[in-house]
Amino acid sequence: MKSLQEKIVKEGKVLSSHVLKVDSFLNHQIDPKLMKEIGEEFAKRFADEKITKILTIESSGIAPSVMAGLELDVPVIFARKRQSLTLTQDLFTADVHSYTKQETNRIAVSNSFLTKQDRLLIIDDFLANGQAALGLLDIAEQAGASVAGIGIVIEKGFQEGGNLLREKQIRVESLARVQSLEDGKVTFAEEVLS
Ligand code: G4P
Repeated sequence: MKSLQEKIVKEGKVLSSHVLKVDSFLNHQIDPKLMKEIGEEFAKRFADEKITKILTIESSGIAPSVMAGLELDVPVIFARKRQSLTLTQDLFTADVHSYTKQETNRIAVSNSFLTKQDRLLIIDDFLANGQAALGLLDIAEQAGASVAGIGIVIEKGFQEGGNLLREKQIRVESLARVQSLEDGKVTFAEEVLS
């Protein structure tokens, strides 16, 4: 997605050869116009899949998911990472290990929002090692729901998540695939010309 690539080049900060900071439009401040475009792009790519719900994870997955949900006219469910006062029972849970942060979070979704009739689109902001996506797939499986695919805003192609998911025959649609962050520079797997 050209506008997303341009935004990454213009505003993204390469913190190391592994970490791209995009706080100005995705992870802290949010650019609603770009987010709307992102939602439209996900909706277009999964238009024929008869999606009934979008499943994401708090917090940065929520904005692109809401925009896609608006476009597809389906509800958006976000897995919680922290315990909630109101979310206390009848939960689907999965343990998600973050290699980046060296911590494991138990993520949870109420079982009242997912059924085996659901066809899900999973969305997240970043795909790195794929652990968050695997946790969401686990929750979908517990619900007996089918998964049409995974929509990712920024995939870091040099980390293993993309391969891990595609090897499982899961459709992964990334709107920007970063091939390398070497020498303080963002290189994309494919440069989008139009
Ligand atoms: P994984 O789920 O693919 O295995 O990713 P990992 O554990 O490595 O990432 C943990 C958190 O760091 C996730 O967000 C993920 O989106 C984010 N992340 C991973 N690589 C990058 C990167 O290069 N740049 C940025 N900006 N974020 C990255 P989170 O902790 O769940 O945060 P949030 O959703 O609450 O914002």
